[in-house]
Amino acid sequence: MSQDHIGVFDSGIGGLTVVQALYDKDPNLSIRYFADTKFFPYGDREQSEITDRVIESAQVMVESGCQLLIIACNTACSAALEYLREYITVPVVGIEPPLKPAAQNTISKRIVILATEGTVSGDRLAKLEADYGNDVAVDSIPMPGLADMIENGDIISEKLISKLKISLQKPISLGADALALGCTHYGFLSGALKQVLPKNILIFDPADAVARRALDLIKENRLLQLSTYKNDIQYQVSGNHQLFNLAVNKIRASGGNIPPMTRGKFMDFKGKRVD
Ligand code: DGL
Repeated sequence: MSQDHIGVFDSGIGGLTVVQALYDKDPNLSIRYFADTKFFPYGDREQSEITDRVIESAQVMVESGCQLLIIACNTACSAALEYLREYITVPVVGIEPPLKPAAQNTISKRIVILATEGTVSGDRLAKLEADYGNDVAVDSIPMPGLADMIENGDIISEKLISKLKISLQKPISLGADALALGCTHYGFLSGALKQVLPKNILIFDPADAVARRALDLIKENRLLQLSTYKNDIQYQVSGNHQLFNLAVNKIRASGGNIPPMTRGKFMDFKGKRVD
């Protein structure tokens, strides 16, 4: 059995933006990051398939000693968060596109959400829009292929910037002044977005709020033993480790922040189906 820790889950590399936010707040946390890269991308998969993958992975993470689970994937939360909470015995923190703060801070009353196809078409975003987007125009833009580029370590190429420019041209010309990042992978795009967006556009990334919520829950539930290990961030992926490492190194070399971490063997799927 592995030591007590926070579990962080994503389909790929994007959830590391949340791990970085946790690390910024407390570098002593013990964190285990699991990326279901074998099934990446989740963005265009069926909701039922995503739900199965997330529940199965989460169960194994909890069996491996995870005391609090963060699903650092908007697409997975959109498909599976409610079901997951029925199955999982530890507190679960989800993530969703930060439509609410974007809607509260826009002056022009026009905001943009960038997300995967699954998140854009999901009920969760529709509900957020109904709850908080009533008096603003919301452009929810699906970005097929964008998370894939980032998963391969590209956060700043000309091709990526041109993809962003094409997608954002219309809302920018219509006066949007707030952009919500609805996919954790896009948290690595601050440099690219600076090149594409006019200076007045505010960018909202939910990673920090998710980290704050997780740390509050740790305090409330007295999971204090979680912070007794120093600088202990381990990761594991369901797909190819070398490709994952390569992408991590490329992102770091391009200026993306990813905390120090080591490859761990904390996930034990035993006899469970994992593919
Ligand atoms: N990181 C995931 C999210 O936040 C998306 C990547 C994928 O398509 O799997 O939505």
